[in-house]
This record gives sequence, C-alpha cells and structure tokens, in this order.
Amino acid sequence: MASKKIGKDDLQEPKGMRDILPNDYTYFETVYKKAEEISSFYNFQMFQLPHVEKSVLFEHTVGETSDIVEKEMYSLKTKGSDGLVLRPEGTAPVMRSYLQHGMHTWSQPVMLSYKGSFFRYENPQKGRFREFQQFGIEIIGEESAIAEAIVIKTMTLILEELGVGPITIQINSRGDKDCINNYRKALIAYYKKYTKDLCKDCQRRFKTNPFRLLDCKDEKCIEIRDDAPQILDHLCNPCKKHFKEVLEHLDLNNIPYLLNPYLVRGLDYYSRTVFEIFADGSEKLSQSALGSGGRYDGLSKTLGKKEVPGVGGGLGVDRIVELMKEKKIKPKNDKKAKVFFIQLGSLAKYKSLNIVEMLRKANIPVAQSLTKNNLGGQLSTADKLGVSYALIMGQKEAQEDSVIIRDMKTRAQTTIKLNDIVATIKKKLK
Ligand code: HAM
Repeated sequence: MASKKIGKDDLQEPKGMRDILPNDYTYFETVYKKAEEISSFYNFQMFQLPHVEKSVLFEHTVGETSDIVEKEMYSLKTKGSDGLVLRPEGTAPVMRSYLQHGMHTWSQPVMLSYKGSFFRYENPQKGRFREFQQFGIEIIGEESAIAEAIVIKTMTLILEELGVGPITIQINSRGDKDCINNYRKALIAYYKKYTKDLCKDCQRRFKTNPFRLLDCKDEKCIEIRDDAPQILDHLCNPCKKHFKEVLEHLDLNNIPYLLNPYLVRGLDYYSRTVFEIFADGSEKLSQSALGSGGRYDGLSKTLGKKEVPGVGGGLGVDRIVELMKEKKIKPKNDKKAKVFFIQLGSLAKYKSLNIVEMLRKANIPVAQSLTKNNLGGQLSTADKLGVSYALIMGQKEAQEDSVIIRDMKTRAQTTIKLNDIVATIKKKLK
C-alpha cells in the first residue's frame, strides 16, 4: 500500500510536546542533578517506573471525575487490546509498585524518588505541555507530620538552590474520608442555591465532583465561592491536630506558607495535607505551580490493599527551567573544558583519538574538534570555550611525539614530549 506523502506538518513535534535541544538539555540536567543530590541526602532512593500503565490504575485512584481521567489520558490501543495509558502522573504508579513488590517488608518508611516524562492531553499554553517532566518524591509508610515536613523541605531546598526562589507554599487540609464526606454534603447544600448561576462546567461538576467548584476560574463562580463553607471547619480533631503539626514544622523550618482554604487539588487520592509551591509573585497564575503534592493515606485501600500512609510531591521540571531562563540563571556545566586539543595534518589526526583518550583517563577536562582541519577554526573554538590552554599537534610534533602547549591568555608556547603531557598539564591547572 502506498504510504501517505510526508507534508510540512508531519515534520513537527506532536502538539504540546517538544524536542529538548542540546542547549535546553543542560537546564534539565542541572535541575535533575540538584534534585537528585538533595533528595538522596534526605534518604530518597531513585527508581524507575514504566511510562505506560494500566488505565484502571488511574481511574480508581486519581478519580473518574478528575480532569486527568475524564479528558486528559493518552489511551493506547494495543494489539492484545490491553487498556493501557501513557502515565499522566507518578503517585499511583509508585503505590502500585510498592504493593506489587511487597515493599511493606522493607524498612519503613520507604522513600522513593523518580523522574521523567508524564503525559496529559491538555490545552498547551505557557508552562503547560502535553508531555512534561516531573521530579517526584514519595514517603510511604509514615503517618506523622514529619513526613510532610521532609517532603516540603526537600522540594523547597531544590528550588532555592537552583536559584528560582523565593517561593511560597500554599497549603490546606482535606481531612480524612469522613471529614471530606461531611464537607461534600455542606458544599452541596450551599451550592444548591446557586446552580443556575454557575458556569456550564461547574453545573456539571456540581453533580459529579463538587470540590472542583472551588478551583474554577470563572469570575461568577469565584464570587459564589467566597461565602462557601470551608473544609477547615469540617475537620475532625485528629485531622486538625495533624494539620497543626504540619504547620508547626513549616514554622520551625522557616518555610513560608499561605493557608489556602480553597485548595483541594484535582486528584481524588489525597487525604489531609495538600500543597502547591509558587515562585513569589506568580500565585495568581494557576498554571504556574512549580510543584505540588500531598498526603494519600487512602490510596492503597482504593487499590484493594490495607491502608498504608503516604505523602509526596512532584516538581514540574519544564516550569522550573522556564523560570531559570526568565531569571537568567545559567545551567551548571561541571564538565567545562580547561584544555583544547588541536591537530593539524593527517599524522596528527591519526594520533589524536589516543591523545584525547589519555587526557580523559587522567581526568583532564579536554575539548577538541577532531573533524576540523585548519588552525584558525580550532583556535577560535578554543577561544569561545574559554579554555586556559591549547595543545597543538602539527605534522612535525606528530613525527616527534611531542605537542605544543599554548597559554591562551599570554599566548606563550612551549613544546613538550607526549609522555609528559598529563603531568605538565595537571601542574599548570593546579
Ligand atoms: P500535579 O499537581 O498534577 O501533581 O503535578 C505536579 C507538578 O507537575 C505541578 O505542580 C506542575 O509543576 C507540573 N505539571 C503538571 N501538569 C503539567 C503540564 N501539563 N505541563 C507542565 N508541567 C505540569 C501530581 O502529578 C502528583 N503526582 C504529585 C504528587 C506526588 N502528589 C503526591 N506525590
């Protein structure tokens, strides 16, 4: 069968997805490196999950009436007709993995971290993509408020050390199952009087998931919300005590937070604490949370197992990268070359890979452009990289197994034997 002709549009990434080109990649690398460094210090262990999961995993946990399950999942048709989806988030898969691998037999709590792409069929806009990257951390098997403190502290430290602070945490408690059920009743009773005044989406949400009325951005809905009952007035005593302890931890750690009584978050598995992290000044833009998370003590039960407490959060890496660029924060380049190797003539080119390898083995950060032939081009690349020394091997040096060392600042040059390169350069770079 003749295949369809390739058009211009076929050479574009799918909508809402992006190629991360080399310049941008260094930003992502910088974020992940910092995130892994700090989270591993606080005992989180990196692990990896599949990018595809069974759709029922999210239907039961994230919630059938959540935006994610209602309209944002990328469902796959497999040849074996399994109901699979590209993972829209990481917490339900982490709990699936905890239960599948009997991690309750490990030393508790189990502290895991993960990174990579997640997929949601959303309307792409600034900071909102259909394929986006998260760095996530989860503490499973710990019910006390110190777990929230560790999660929030780890996430804020990562953001601050990347230089995208100052940040503020918006925080709330949804209480446990009973609190949220009582609150649901109070919300329904209140909103019943206003159903005709709500936007179309909220009229539907009123029937399916009344909590979603609280984060609607429609002006009229916001006005109605102002007098709506607040969840904090519906918390039972143990949930109140837990939330108080979480806030005390934040106070003692000087983590700035704002109580947001309307924050319920769009994922059904949350219980008790929910939070979102914003760069200061961006609180009004709902799409700009740099990270978010919460407690999910009931999640394992919705997966048919006994209750295991858990709390965690995910950082939106794409948004952090955007903010780094806006704030003109340069990505970290630990591999910055200090020496540039220049080769001229065919014999030098033949010998070049061995010399570069000798320097790499000696841990000398060396750059080169072995495909180039002329001196000018190679010297100007060395200049652009800002290296301290160039090593030049021409035809004569190649025959004599020697190399010229050029000080890029003073332009002074000396010739040394190949055998002495490593020791001489190490001495100069000290
Ligand atoms: P979430 O709020 O859906 O939570 O996503 C976490 C973070 O990922 C957000 O704060 C945001 O920075 C980023 N993010 C979400 N959607 C997009 C998008 N379309 N484009 C760009 N960035 C996005 C979760 O996914 C939970 N699993 C977090 C969690 C972990 N809760 C407990 N543990």
